[in-house]
Amino acid sequence: MPSIADSALAVVHEHILACTACPLHLRRIQAVPGTGEASARIMVVGEGPGETEDRLGKPFVGAAGNVLTRLLESIGLRREDTFITNVVKCRPPGNRDPEPAEVEACSQFLDAQVEIIRPDVILVLGRHALARLLPGSPGITQVHGRQVVRGDRLYVPLYHPAAALYNGSLMRTLEEDMLRVRGYLDAAGEERRRAAAAPSEEARGPAVPAAASAPAATDPRHQLSLFD
Ligand code: URA
Repeated sequence: MPSIADSALAVVHEHILACTACPLHLRRIQAVPGTGEASARIMVVGEGPGETEDRLGKPFVGAAGNVLTRLLESIGLRREDTFITNVVKCRPPGNRDPEPAEVEACSQFLDAQVEIIRPDVILVLGRHALARLLPGSPGITQVHGRQVVRGDRLYVPLYHPAAALYNGSLMRTLEEDMLRVRGYLDAAGEERRRAAAAPSEEARGPAVPAAASAPAATDPRHQLSLFD
């Protein structure tokens, strides 16, 4: 039987599929709400669907998606362990950047997804997701690979996999940042297990899958708390 969160997510996704709030709906084949379970502990947010995503109705299934899948697997995660979505749910024509008004029109959907899923960690892919989820943040070159705490949420900005596709040094940086993500996930899972064991606190969902090895998640050089 679906959980309340599953049902709530399904309702949001029905609204996304029928949305006509901005001009992007005029040229889409279909909207791309996102894939994954409401119980996912890790959320991945990219920019917007590309041509393949528009055709298949799933996020990150083209060339950038292959990179994302490989990066997740490099730290012992499967795509199914995550909820993957985008800032805008319909393809910007010709893969242009989404316009501010389009991002704004779509913002209620991403907010609702985050609120329903309440992930331990949100991986913020590229500058558009960074501007949307962490407005006022320094640029991606300054914050990539770091933990950013805002309110009760933990974000890790990363270079966008598409940007790394044809840039070997960016790819290496992205791979190194993913190793840090593994450490952050392990620390977040441990924190949640501690909270679950405490009688007065509420626990939610299974722990993040464990890693074979993890870099030091608590290294202060990799933590930012810019917004509190
Ligand atoms: N595919 C997506 O779904 N999102 C991106 O940002 C890039 C490719």
